[in-house]
This record gives sequence, C-alpha cells and structure tokens, in this order.
Amino acid sequence: MSSQSAMGITINQLQNMREQHEKIACLTAYDAAFAKLLDQAGIDIILVGDSLGMVIQGNTSTVSVTMEDIIYHTMCVSSATSHSLVISDMPFMSYSNIDNALHNATRLMQEGGAQMVKLEATQRQTEIVEELSACGIPVCAHLGLRPQYIHKLGGYKVQGTDTDSANELLITSTALEKAGADILLVECIPAILAAEITKTVSIPVIGIGAGKDCDGQILVLQDILGITPGKTPPFAKNYMQNCSIQQAVQNYIQEVKSGTFPT
Ligand code: KIV
Repeated sequence: MSSQSAMGITINQLQNMREQHEKIACLTAYDAAFAKLLDQAGIDIILVGDSLGMVIQGNTSTVSVTMEDIIYHTMCVSSATSHSLVISDMPFMSYSNIDNALHNATRLMQEGGAQMVKLEATQRQTEIVEELSACGIPVCAHLGLRPQYIHKLGGYKVQGTDTDSANELLITSTALEKAGADILLVECIPAILAAEITKTVSIPVIGIGAGKDCDGQILVLQDILGITPGKTPPFAKNYMQNCSIQQAVQNYIQEVKSGTFPT
C-alpha cells in the first residue's frame, strides 16, 4: 500500500506507485459527502470532472460546464478531503491560450483548492502544459477521446484505432511528458495502444476504457453506483450489488489494486 504523508497523496507517491507496480485507484466526485466517503475509503485520486455537466447538471455533454461550476464543486470536494489528491478539470475553452490557461488554473488551485489541473490535450497544448508546469501547477493531460471535442468528433468514439492516429497519440504522449505533465489520462483507446503508451512514458498513466495495463483506473462515481442519469458507458461497471455505497467503493478500489478491474 502507498504510505500517506501529512498532506495526503502527493505526485511523488503516485510516481512511486507506478514504479512499484501498485495500481492507482481514482474516481470522480463533485460534493463533500461523496468526497469524504471516497477519501475515507482510500481512493488515491478524486477528479472533479467536467462530467458534472452530465451527471450533476443533466446535460448531454461537458461543453456547458463553466469555470464557476468547477470552482464551486472543487471547493466542495477539497474541503472534505485529506487523503486523496484532488484534480480539477479545466472546462471547455478555459485553456485556449497560455494566458487564460494560467489565469484559470490559478483560480482552480487558489479558489477551489485543487492540487492538480486536468486538460484535454493534443500536440497544440504542449506549450500550455510547459507554461503551467514551469509556474508550479501540476498537470494531468487527458488524451484519446476528449469529450470537450464532441461536436468536432461527431460522437463518443474509440480513438487511435488506425496506425496514423495511434502513432500520433504515442508522439503526443511523449511530448506532453517532456512538456512537464505529471500524469496522463487516456480515454477510450485500444488496450494495446494504452499499454504501449504506459510502457513508453515514465509518468503514471490512468486509463478509462483503455484496458488493464495502465498504471491506474478511473471511473465516474455515478457509473459505479448505477445512478447515471443518461447512458452508462460500456466500459463502466456497477458495483452496487446488494451492498452499501462504502462497500461498493471499497470493492472498486480492491478490484483496481488487484488488477481484476477492468477485465
Ligand atoms: O470529466 C471526467 O469525469 C473525466 C473522466 C471521465 C476521466 O474526464
């Protein structure tokens, strides 16, 4: 098990977990009650995801989520957390250039209490990641299916399925690591590509719908509790099998740590 410092899980501990092949268990949360429950269950990372646009606000995408929304929910989560590392999502268009990225990431950390920010990244975002990192802002770069691009992508589809796009994702992953990203999050890419990215970079890689060979896994909390208002993604698993919410979360953590989720 990872040891916890006085300040909770740190990026150094996540790096050690990767090196010691201890899987990193992550979930989303958006309020204090669930954040406290996850924190006490021993979740390594809580993401205040812009998925709140769908699971909290009931919209069909994450595009409507604003900085004010994310700051509010990050404050709710960070106030209830002492063990888990809190990552806050940068909403749609809040990092379209270096200036607004620096301004908005600062707000997430100072007003929200986030310990890391996450942004959806292609090669175009490497400069932004470099600048955030140089200013002392830890960054998680989200690659593969980027839900904020839904209207450009034309649907929630698996990414990196042909040789060119798979190579592009591999090159982007190493460029983002070089730019200073602390973690990569890969969504909906073939398991074999996620495994290749995990082998190639030296920072932790968290997967969602990306197979079992990443350094850790993340799911949306409402998906594991079977209470998602819309469609549940096919890679999610409902852990509420005649048990309490605490037990469902503990079962998820146990399956991620032992490598039995995902199958
Ligand atoms: O917004 C979110 O919750 C996410 C996860 C699905 C990884 O980005």
